[in-house]
Amino acid sequence: MENFRFYSPTQFVFGKNTENEVGKLVKKAKANKVLIHYGGGSIIRSGLLGKVEAALKKENIPYILLGGVQPNPRSGLVYQGIDLVKKEAIDFILAVGGGSAIDSAKAIAAGVLYNGDFWDLYDRKARVEKALPVGVILTIPAAGSEASTATVITNENGMLKRGMGSDLLRPVFAIMNPELTFTLPAYQTSAGVVDMMSHIFERYLTHTEGVELTDYLCEATLKSIINAARVVVHDPLNYDARATICWAGTIAHNGFLGVGREEDWSTHGLEHELSALYDVTHGAGLAVMFPAYMKYTVDSDIERYRQLAIRVFGVDDNPNNPKAVALEGIARLESFFNEIGMPLTFEEIGAKKEDIDKLLEKLDINRGFPFGNFQKLSREDARKIYLLAC
Ligand code: NZQ
Ligand code: ZN
Repeated sequence: MENFRFYSPTQFVFGKNTENEVGKLVKKAKANKVLIHYGGGSIIRSGLLGKVEAALKKENIPYILLGGVQPNPRSGLVYQGIDLVKKEAIDFILAVGGGSAIDSAKAIAAGVLYNGDFWDLYDRKARVEKALPVGVILTIPAAGSEASTATVITNENGMLKRGMGSDLLRPVFAIMNPELTFTLPAYQTSAGVVDMMSHIFERYLTHTEGVELTDYLCEATLKSIINAARVVVHDPLNYDARATICWAGTIAHNGFLGVGREEDWSTHGLEHELSALYDVTHGAGLAVMFPAYMKYTVDSDIERYRQLAIRVFGVDDNPNNPKAVALEGIARLESFFNEIGMPLTFEEIGAKKEDIDKLLEKLDINRGFPFGNFQKLSREDARKIYLLAC
């Protein structure tokens, strides 16, 4: 196990009706004026925005609304948010929604206190040194941004999708009421499931030795997600299954499962170019890319894939042919993604084989070749993985 530091200051307020506590939590954070930042309108249709406004009014906390965050959030609205926060002397950002609203809120929170173009922080020209506090009411378990250090924004100038991270961007609180996820379209629920599973795979695929504890934690979380997803597909109002998925999404990405081990993140790199070029749902893009990545890298560590196959996917061991066991695990992952309605090929997400060179160009700008830790990927490796996904 490697040395590590783990800092996770977020207060989680989990369960039924917890959204009504938002006023008190914002007050406790000593906010004077709040920006409520949200997406395309699901929180208006569900009545959640009304409840949030009522809770803030009850505590006499003034607020300004800024909606319109798109999935794969864009830089344009971040600039708008930064101007608004400065003009209105706002000192707290409340994101109500999923990864997109939260990531945009984090970008505004850091951008407001940065003396320059906020994109410098994503362009690796500067690091986050301070940020306004961010609070979250989560409506879709997926990206794990409610507890993560990360924020991912797409710059409209060139459609470059980039992430950056800082402990200063971990939300001060995250309100998580599984009932708020009852209104999710099935496709978004499943894409969220794939995303959180992928956050675990990015950590699970490691060559670091002596990490049995986090291996078991990863495997248990994966199994719980799979079981709960199978319930939710047929019974979307099942509270306990929704609750399991909600909390699993947080555990998958707050860093807890990755401590002491080298993480990979190649597949997220490969997928982010698909989201940037075709505006596909991140989780759906991962459903296409992860099995392809796994098949391509299986020889890097057959034993690791074999362990995954046996412990998570219930494959029978065959000591005479460990690779067959490993491959069967990957096949079962694919069939699970298929079972929950996720795509498995380029074609299904509208991606084109002819665009692979374009994807590789952008990948070169964003990550640079070679990249990844589990297996160092050259440009040719990345091409072959994209081809496998076709
Ligand atoms: O915009 P609204 O109208 O709210 O609709 C959203 C959106 O269309 C809808 N939705 C959310 N909650 C709902 C709901 N519809 C009905 N009922 C509800 N309760 O779902 C759609 C997707 O929302 P979005 O916030 O985009 O989803 P997600 O949480 O998957 O976030 C995706 C973004 O997060 C980034 C991704 O790259 C992508 O840009 N990621 C962020 C990470 C991080 N910050 O740590 C890590 C991830 O790996 C990921 O890269
Ligand atoms: Zn992800």
